[in-house]
Amino acid sequence: MDVSNLIDTSHTDDDEETPSLDILFATSELAPLAKTGGLADVAASLPKALEELGHDVSILMPLYRHLDPDEQHLGRRLKRLEVPRRSKQRQKVEATIWEGRLDRHARIFFVQQEDYFGHEGIYGYDEAVKSEDAAARYSFFSRAIIEFARQFPASFDIIHCNDWHTALAPVYRSHYFEEELGDCAVISTIHNLAYQGSFPKESFEQTGLPKTYNSPGELQHGETINFLKGAIRYSDALTTVSPTYAEEIQAPEGGQGLDESLSDRSDDLHGILNGVDYSVWSPDSDPHIPVQYDLDHLNGKRQNKAELQHHFDLDIRPSTPLIGFVGRLTDQKGLDLAVPALREMLDAIDDPREGFQMVLLGEGDPEHEERLRSLADDYERWVGVHIGYDEALAHQFQAGCDMLLVPSRYEPCGLTQMYAMKYGTLPIAHATGGLVDTITDVDDKSASGPGTGFLFENYTEEALQKTVERALEYFDNYRQWRPIMERAMEQDFSWTRSAERYAKLYEATIDDLELERAAE
Ligand code: ADP
Ligand code: GLC
Repeated sequence: MDVSNLIDTSHTDDDEETPSLDILFATSELAPLAKTGGLADVAASLPKALEELGHDVSILMPLYRHLDPDEQHLGRRLKRLEVPRRSKQRQKVEATIWEGRLDRHARIFFVQQEDYFGHEGIYGYDEAVKSEDAAARYSFFSRAIIEFARQFPASFDIIHCNDWHTALAPVYRSHYFEEELGDCAVISTIHNLAYQGSFPKESFEQTGLPKTYNSPGELQHGETINFLKGAIRYSDALTTVSPTYAEEIQAPEGGQGLDESLSDRSDDLHGILNGVDYSVWSPDSDPHIPVQYDLDHLNGKRQNKAELQHHFDLDIRPSTPLIGFVGRLTDQKGLDLAVPALREMLDAIDDPREGFQMVLLGEGDPEHEERLRSLADDYERWVGVHIGYDEALAHQFQAGCDMLLVPSRYEPCGLTQMYAMKYGTLPIAHATGGLVDTITDVDDKSASGPGTGFLFENYTEEALQKTVERALEYFDNYRQWRPIMERAMEQDFSWTRSAERYAKLYEATIDDLELERAAE
């Protein structure tokens, strides 16, 4: 990937503006440099939105092997960062910090450390690395976040951590630097509670923390060591990515074993909906799609559909509804429910001119990959599948499909359904998490706003099938379909409002810290 045009290392005059808050945003993914899912999109767009509100954001992320600073102009080498690893031996690991800039917005700092991030891939799954390596790697990264905040000249008001990869940072802050970083609030966002950084007990040693942290009230969780538990306990405030998910994770059903830890911090846990970066996801300016379009030029959407049908060797028929799916192929995404349900529906169609077509894009769990491959083999006139990660194709799906299926078992926020609406592609989704907060069912009479998609409540094949059928019926009548498309395209999920909520939370958390310190 050539990212040279994305990174601007020159410093401009607007660098001199006085921002209101200095924020360090720590993440393991950042689009388009390192992406496996929505975290990367959020890490690229929330800092930008915060900068637009006048704050000063520095992003800190690992320098993965595929990011070559020389080849990709990732900026200039700054200096060495010393990261203590084991308190007993006082061992220190040296890392190098590189500085770049994303799109003239937030500054990015890369932590380069070959032993920890020199492997193939982002999380190193390619090499089937042992979990102990992951524990070492991300406890190192968590400590590097805190050391960066201490050793670099900027004085941060906020350290904003994301997911389990950064989850020990608040613990290190509290244990070692309560005084030194006392004015700096640490906030952690949970993007997906299914990923907790859960390791065998022996991995505790990798954290370098005193043994007292290896106990049930601290990082211990049953037979494991749980990094996310550290973030839940020691962050000054917690957020997750939609209001509904914030409720769901405090109950046993959605809490993935951490519901009690989370409900203990209920007052400090906030659900703030993710936004969309419309400079990346808009059909009127998207460079990845064959034909750009907007509400007044919907013919362009028809052309994108024809291209997509052609790409997958499906009959090119404007009147046949085309349903898409884009996502990581994990249990979360609901394909174990959707595929058999769709098979049954496809079985009932004899003529390819009838019924619907489907295109699916994803990679992940080999079992799910196989499930999709065999679906395409069995229904080749109706179904196209691409196994792999393909950013451009993901955009072409949004532009070319009529509907996007999001059958997720649970979904903290979900971005693809919001992208879909902007492209006039109506979501058919399970009523869970952020999907509930972003989609209004067209038949929901009690809803406050008009419908923008189709939701099914019960997580059953029957409910999914009925909802797909309902969507197909609407599609049959363009006079019904078109106004729903228009409403969907007019939805505004831009980041500004959510970024304002984050900024308010930052300020309130800093105020609380000050009060606490004054009371001591
Ligand atoms: P999650 O973060 O759980 O994966 P989201 O809906 O928040 O789900 O974000 C998924 C992001 O990853 C979207 O930008 C989507 O387009 C992208 N994506 C997922 N799988 C693929 C793939 N195989 N190829 C290209 N993009 C993908
Ligand atoms: C996670 C969630 C997804 C969310 C994304 C960004 O990966 O699965 O729902 O949109 O993070 O916050």
